[in-house]
Amino acid sequence: MQIRSAPDLKDCDVTDRDVYLGRRRFLAAASSLLLPVPAMAAPAGDAPTPFEAVSTYNNFYEFGTGKDDPARTAPDRLITRPWSVAVGGECARPGRIGLEDLLKPHRPEERIYRLRCVEGWSMVVPWTGVPLAAVLPRFEPTSRARFVEFTTLADPRQMPGLRAGVLDWPYVEGLRLDEAMHPLTLLATGLYGRDLPAQNGAPLRLVVPWKYGFKSIKSIVSIRFVETMPTSSWMKANPREYGFYSNVNPQVDHPRWSQATERRIGEFRRRDTLMFNGYADQVAGLYAGMDLKADF
Ligand code: MTE
Repeated sequence: MQIRSAPDLKDCDVTDRDVYLGRRRFLAAASSLLLPVPAMAAPAGDAPTPFEAVSTYNNFYEFGTGKDDPARTAPDRLITRPWSVAVGGECARPGRIGLEDLLKPHRPEERIYRLRCVEGWSMVVPWTGVPLAAVLPRFEPTSRARFVEFTTLADPRQMPGLRAGVLDWPYVEGLRLDEAMHPLTLLATGLYGRDLPAQNGAPLRLVVPWKYGFKSIKSIVSIRFVETMPTSSWMKANPREYGFYSNVNPQVDHPRWSQATERRIGEFRRRDTLMFNGYADQVAGLYAGMDLKADF
């Protein structure tokens, strides 16, 4: 490991102590960098963030608001088998479907995606999953379906964070149907070639790499096709700060902080945030003609 002196570094450039203080953790993180990474369909072009960091620095408020709360509590508490998803709303084939049946017809794919949290940190994660675009048509959405609403499990016996009124539970997110059907949108079941750790949203989560991380809803129990724009939990909590689209956009600041740069977990210097998190060539067309400042 190369140690560089960097006199221009400020406190805020230092990697979070939760991730890198412990020597054992640090060494584990460094050694997992050496793990071979399988061939990916959509390489992000950046080095994957070590598994140790991806699975210990998490936002999963159902298990607490501290970055290490989910890794400490979710693995022992979250029951991920059996698991089923209720599919409903504007579709011809609604019903409850078991996880295995949901996934069975599809070949899992591996994708390395950048994940940019609205808080200003980022990671690069090698996910395993199936494109949502392959799954949704099986339920035959009707012509009235314009949006898709996703809901996370909310079970206070498994999720101690539900006792805190941080959000109006259950956690709800939504996508426009064309966003949900975009080839980059992934229904993830694993990362680093293994099953999703509980703290990362086992057994099934969304990954929408061009949007702020909170759109990538975890531990999904319901998918509904709807006519009108769903109200996500974060919009409900603070509509001035969190919009429905929440596309990564370095030119539109959060009301309380700049979104121009980000801190990649494991790096010292902040780096520039990219428009649509670097996926503009693939997704900008979805928003043609929209005012991205007004429709944030
Ligand atoms: N999904 C649920 N149900 N609850 C959450 O608190 N946090 C979101 C998103 N999905 C969250 C969630 C946020 S803010 C981010 S940045 C990502 O999950 C973090 O995913 P990760 O912990 O796998 O990095």
